[in-house]
Amino acid sequence: MRWWRRTRPTAWPNMRRRTIDREDGVNDAALEAAKRLAAAGIDSARVDARLLWGFAGGDAATFDAAIARRLQREPVAYILGHKEFWSLDLEVGPGVLVPRPDTETLIEEAVRLVPDRTAPLAIADLGTGSGAILLAALAEFPNAHGIGFESSPAAFDYAARNAARLAPGRAEMRLVDWTAAAGPFDLVFSNPPYIPPAEIESLDPDVRDHEPRAALDGGPDGLDAYRALGRLLPGLLKPGGHALLEIGAGQAGAMEPLFPGLELMRITPDLSGVPRCIVLKPRNFLGNPGPIR
Ligand SMILES: C[S@@+](CC[C@H](N)C(=O)[O-])C[C@H]1O[C@@H](n2cnc3c(N)ncnc32)[C@H](O)[C@@H]1O
Repeated sequence: MRWWRRTRPTAWPNMRRRTIDREDGVNDAALEAAKRLAAAGIDSARVDARLLWGFAGGDAATFDAAIARRLQREPVAYILGHKEFWSLDLEVGPGVLVPRPDTETLIEEAVRLVPDRTAPLAIADLGTGSGAILLAALAEFPNAHGIGFESSPAAFDYAARNAARLAPGRAEMRLVDWTAAAGPFDLVFSNPPYIPPAEIESLDPDVRDHEPRAALDGGPDGLDAYRALGRLLPGLLKPGGHALLEIGAGQAGAMEPLFPGLELMRITPDLSGVPRCIVLKPRNFLGNPGPIR
């Protein structure tokens, strides 16, 4: 007989729920905090309270301070000081964009484009932020090396520390405008700022009030960075190279004319079905379309 048959309480549903809470380490203080977060309009209140409870390690003062920050709508990842991306644990905090799962679409696409994981690729990541994309790509291609370009000093500091920890000797981070990049590269990634300022105002306060404007603001129509990349990318790619760029919801139709020097190969959806990654290659490349070298 399984233990729960012998010990099953009469008031099963309530007992069971309290048991789950204890197993997850959430006590009355955390449940109370979850209620406060929910009352402040935070949809993920319960999950957030659990994460912050675990982060505080049972220290009431640390927990209270963390909940106070969350009530100010600071992103949980900033309070925890890290965020998982492509199974990598990245250091993040105020001043750098929290990497999003949608961005993993670019890594999935790179793995499809380059079946040879041993390829000694040269990779660039334009606007590297925390270094998420470059470091994930280097984790998939162990003989590759890469450069992350970032113009924000705060973001660059995170990128440099993440690179030193996760890809020592293979990832170089540069605090420069991406126009300073010089190729040639096999793969160029970018998740540029692509939100029009008017839309930023309607975003969740976690994003609008805490994540860096320079990581979000794509100019009046959200497309300024793509215009700049359209001028830059043809000079950065090897003849058989590819550029993989993240785009925002509803932007797919605007992309092709912005890259007159490149061929738009395909647009890949994210896990929600939203067109998320554009794949570009140099025009008139007549070489072997097989694995990139
Ligand atoms: C949307 S965030 C992406 C961050 C990271 N790649 C990610 O996916 O999580 C865009 C990043 O590009 C940087 N950026 C914007 N314009 C830039 C430029 N002209 N040169 C270098 N970096 C730039 C921003 O500071 C920001 O860190």
